[in-house]
This record gives sequence, structure tokens and C-alpha cells, in this order.
Amino acid sequence: MRQSTSLCLFAVLALAHVGTARDLRDVTEPKTPQSCTTLRATGGDDTEVIQKALDSCTKGQAVQLSHGTFYSGPLTIPSGVNLLVDSGVTLKALTNPALYDLGANTCGTLDEYGVGCKAFITMHGARSSGIYGKGTIDGQANVRMTGKNQTWWQLSNAALAAKNYQNVPRLMQINNSLDITLYQLTLLNSPFYFVATSETNGFTVWGLNIHAPASARNTDGVDPIGSQNVTIAYCNISTGDDAVAIKAMTAPSRHISLLNNHFGHGNGMSIGSEVNYGASDVLVSGLTQHDSKNGVHIKSNTFRGGHVENIIYDNICMYNIDSPFRLDMEYMDLHGNRTPEFRNITFSNIKVLTRGRIIIHGISNANPVEIKLNNVHITKGTAFFEHFANITGTWVEDVSSSTRCGKYGNL
Ligand SMILES: *[C@@H]1O[C@H](CO)[C@@H](O)[C@H](O)[C@H]1NC(C)=O
Ligand SMILES: *[C@@H]1O[C@H](CO)[C@@H](O)[C@H](O)[C@H]1NC(C)=O
Ligand SMILES: *[C@@H]1O[C@H](CO)[C@@H](O)[C@H](O)[C@H]1NC(C)=O
Ligand SMILES: *[C@@H]1O[C@H](CO)[C@@H](O)[C@H](O)[C@H]1NC(C)=O
Ligand SMILES: *[C@@H]1O[C@H](CO)[C@@H](O)[C@H](O)[C@H]1NC(C)=O
Ligand SMILES: *[C@@H]1O[C@H](CO)[C@@H](O)[C@H](O)[C@H]1NC(C)=O
Repeated sequence: MRQSTSLCLFAVLALAHVGTARDLRDVTEPKTPQSCTTLRATGGDDTEVIQKALDSCTKGQAVQLSHGTFYSGPLTIPSGVNLLVDSGVTLKALTNPALYDLGANTCGTLDEYGVGCKAFITMHGARSSGIYGKGTIDGQANVRMTGKNQTWWQLSNAALAAKNYQNVPRLMQINNSLDITLYQLTLLNSPFYFVATSETNGFTVWGLNIHAPASARNTDGVDPIGSQNVTIAYCNISTGDDAVAIKAMTAPSRHISLLNNHFGHGNGMSIGSEVNYGASDVLVSGLTQHDSKNGVHIKSNTFRGGHVENIIYDNICMYNIDSPFRLDMEYMDLHGNRTPEFRNITFSNIKVLTRGRIIIHGISNANPVEIKLNNVHITKGTAFFEHFANITGTWVEDVSSSTRCGKYGNL
């Protein structure tokens, strides 16, 4: 009794310092909706069958993929309707670029824009839609494109070599929507970003496994872009790029909670680099990160700058990270007239179990990176690059090699 009272008190106190740096909604574990219809895979192209079922499904219900491996081209989830991918079921994205082409006949090729393909799954102007289930959605970026001698990922590598852009689909694009849920799915092998939102308010990503090889270019896990009231919880993400990247190209991104996640290989927990409209009021609480290039990464520059403020990182445990903390206002050395500001960024209850390089890079004495450290433990031998950094508190170099991370952070 005594113990539970003090635990409660601790929970209240823990939330008190968080203020509004979080999703303002009251988010709980999603509940899988009832099915309007159940489909079995035919082994052929099931695009039309699935799309028709979605288009005629009763609002509030789900089209249930119940058995087998489905092959499909691009799908649109209508407003109010859900897709349910059952355990044991795989939904595979067909690899014919023509199916994804936006009209310029460039999907599956290289050019100087890289915007020639639509996503595999799109939501636009949807309200209360979602994708649920313990099944798998596979972007098949490791499989040869129909009629070509390369995979989507090989095309992406060719773009790097040719210094231009690949036209490849994202796995999911969610635009101008409200109250969207992704629950439990395993997402594999996306040709580009796995999940990106644009100007979407009310977005819950809960219990997903998202995986691509470390070598797969641009395979960001979840990118909330110009979006508000977002919760990403209990996810396992390992990809070839940012596990999560919060951006703000056309609208602000704010009130975002990342709770109890586990990130493996990739580029880390990122904010930026495009923060023109500002990224603020973000809480990252309960995170284990390992084997990645960056741990906590805030990146911008005067080309894509804006305000990044009121950010709380709490209860994070990291190991085998090249840069456990990388807060860089001169990312990629791009220049323009949008000055970034990184302010009121708090790190509490952090452990970094292996050596790495900490980079804190502001722009000037008048515009430093402003951070507060509270109970932050790192390993002896950590390298520092601090330039125009205003740091309140200290890094304590006392973590011993016997320490282990918990499942979600170090609690
Ligand atoms: C965020 O959620 C809060 C609480 O439900 C709500 O009052 C607010 O309008 C939401 N903000 C946006 C931009 O949807
Ligand atoms: C694939 O085709 C391109 C031209 O379309 C050619 O340059 C390239 O060498 C081919 N690659 C392989 C592995 O055959
Ligand atoms: C979604 O939004 C992005 C960013 O604003 C835009 O590039 C893309 O064309 C939009 N896609 C759809 C299907 O509306
Ligand atoms: C995520 O990874 C952790 C640690 O590897 C594991 O214990 C947990 O079961 C995984 N979660 C899911 C949903 O697979
Ligand atoms: C700093 O951010 C925290 C968390 O959102 C907030 O409660 C606090 O008011 C902010 N402080 C300032 C000076 O803006
Ligand atoms: C550092 O930031 C604090 C606010 O967090 C401010 O009060 C102080 O003046 C700053 N110091 C310098 C040298 O800029």
C-alpha cells in the first residue's frame, strides 16, 4: 500500500515537469475495430478486390485480410475506414513502377526531383481511419522492379552515385487527416520513408515493428511532418535512416510524445533538418537505442531553420552509438536566411554505456544551442565537440561497463 502510494506520487511528479511538452490527447492502447468483410489472398493481384472492399466498408469498421499473402498495387484508405492485417498474413507491394507513377512516367527512374511515385498506402483528408493487426506489410524494395534489372533500393544507390534522386514509393503517406491509428503491424522493406504524415493532427502509432537493413537509403521509420498531437509508443524500429524524424516544412510540428520505444540500427531519434515552421513541445520518454549513427539528433541549418524548443528527453539508455548526442545548427553546411534556434532542451535520467562523440554545434554566442542536463551519465573517454553551446548542468563520466539498458530506457 505504502509502496503504491509513493509510486503514484512519483508518476504525478514525473508528469508535472513535462508541462505541455507532449501529445495533449489522452492516448490509450488502440482497440481493433470490428470487420465489415473478410478477404483471403488469391495469389494474384488483389488490388481491386481490396480497394473495392475498402470503398464499400461501413465507417468505423475494417476490411480484414485473414489468410495468405496478398499482392497489391497502391491502395487508398477512405475516411472512417480501417484495414486489418491478421497475424500470419502478409500484404506485399507489387514492384511494377507503372502502378505507382504520378503521370510523368518517371516512377522507377532517376531525375532531379524524386517525386514521381505515389505511396503504397495513402490516406488523404481521412478522419478516424487506421491500419491494425499483427500481420506484415512488405514494401518489397529488395525485390527486382517489374521490367527492370534493379530493386528499388539499388535504384536509390544509383541515385547517390549519379548525384540525383530516385523516384520510388513511400510505404504510407498520410496527409491532411485527423485521428489516425497504426497498431501492432510489422512493416518491412520500404523503398523510401516507411510512414510519413503531412498536416495530420491526432496520430497514434502503437506497438509496431519497423525494419529495413542499415544499408537501405532514406528508409525513415516514422516521420511526423507539420503534424500535431502525435504519440509513438511501444515500437521497435531499425532502418537505414532516422528511426523517427520530426519535421516542419509547411506547418508546425508540436505536442508529440514518444513513449517506451526501442531503436536499433539507423540514424537515430531525430528532429529536423527541415523545421521552417518550428518543432516544439516534444517528449521522448523511455527509449533504448543501440548500434546507430546517432542517438538523440537535432539537425538544422540556416537553409531549413526554425525554432526547436521545449523538448524533453527523459529516461534514455544507449550503447554502441557513434554520436549519442548530436545537436547541430550547421547540418550539411547548407546556408540561407532561416536561422535555427535550439532552446529549452532538457536531458534527464540518461545513460550512455559506450564511448562516442558528443556534438553540440550552435551558430554564434548570440545563438547557441541551449540545453539542460540533469542526471546524465556517460562513459569515460567520450569525445566532445562543443561550439557555441550553452549548457546548464554537467555530463557525469561514471557509467561502468557492467550497466545494462532495460527494454525501454534504463528504468
Ligand atoms: C490536440 O489535442 C487537444 C486535446 O484533445 C485538443 O484540444 C487540440 O485541439 C488538439 N490540437 C490539434 C492541433 O488538433
Ligand atoms: C541495369 O541496367 C542499366 C541500364 O538500364 C545498366 O546501366 C546497368 O549496368 C544494369 N545493371 C545490371 C546489374 O545489369
Ligand atoms: C502529401 O503531402 C506531401 C507534403 O506536403 C506532398 O508532397 C504530397 O504530394 C502529398 N500527397 C498526397 C497524396 O496528397
Ligand atoms: C521490441 O524489442 C524488445 C527488445 O528487443 C522486445 O523485448 C519486444 O518484445 C519487442 N516488441 C515487439 C512488439 O516485438
Ligand atoms: C521549457 O519547456 C518545458 C517543457 O515544455 C516547459 O514546461 C517550460 O515552460 C519551458 N520553459 C521556457 C522558459 O520556455
Ligand atoms: C544560457 O542560457 C540561459 C537560459 O537557459 C541564459 O539565462 C543565459 O544567459 C545563457 N548564457 C549565455 C552565456 O548565453
